[in-house]
Amino acid sequence: MRIILFGPPGVGKGTQAKLLSEEFSVPHISTGDLLRAAVKNQSTLGKKAQEYMDAGNLVPDDVMIGLIREILSSPKAKRGFILDGFPRTVPQAQALDTMLSGLGLKLDGVISLRVEHEEVIKRLSGRKMCRTCGRIYSTQQLEIIDMPTKCQDCGGELFQREDDDAETVRHRLEVYVKETKPLKDFYRETGRFIQIDGMLEVPFVHKTILDIVYKSRNGKD
Ligand code: AP5
Repeated sequence: MRIILFGPPGVGKGTQAKLLSEEFSVPHISTGDLLRAAVKNQSTLGKKAQEYMDAGNLVPDDVMIGLIREILSSPKAKRGFILDGFPRTVPQAQALDTMLSGLGLKLDGVISLRVEHEEVIKRLSGRKMCRTCGRIYSTQQLEIIDMPTKCQDCGGELFQREDDDAETVRHRLEVYVKETKPLKDFYRETGRFIQIDGMLEVPFVHKTILDIVYKSRNGKD
């Protein structure tokens, strides 16, 4: 299975990618997570990316394409993948197509989550992540757990991302509209694009995606 989860910041790409990765035992490849790990380690990539990320801007295409090329040609991605956060520009999408055809692989589809921008701002201003295992928490989850500063899975510290303050989120949404939204047409033209309602609760969004995946698999049988 090779799927791209697409959509503006905060629509739930990471949340859904994790569920799909568990369901189908394929890696969740999140360029945001990879970049944050690089920033944490202060690697060459991390030093290059940090300034762009903190400001809510896109990291340059050549850097991102190089990163994805390395991952897709590694054994990790052999069985498939759920891509989250890549591609984000038309040149990235074109490079991905070239990479996949060079590897003799085919993209199954692009699933786009649609959520109103005001809901995105609400979700991101309340989101916390675990510094150790990366688990994502929503405002609602944090309200019902006993220790809202510690991860329920590993006990790691929960933190708010630098780029989740309301002003940076608004800027990220503007960048999305300008740089990433045009990709919808890129994928629509090749019949690989499906848009779904991301305003529903997490399990319902997951179920919608599963229905799409199973339907497309049965269609191929
Ligand atoms: P990245 O980490 O990819 O951020 P993003 O795309 O802006 O997406 P988010 O991670 O903010 O949101 P999400 O859609 O995954 O939502 P989540 O599931 O967490 O990228 C960060 C930065 O890295 C970029 O700004 C850029 O600088 C750089 N970058 C990365 N890739 C790049 C690329 N290809 N090219 C150039 N630069 C790149 O959910 C959000 C919250 O909502 C959570 O609290 C969650 O619990 C909650 N939630 C989820 N689903 C629901 C639901 N259905 N109902 C209610 N709450 C929900």
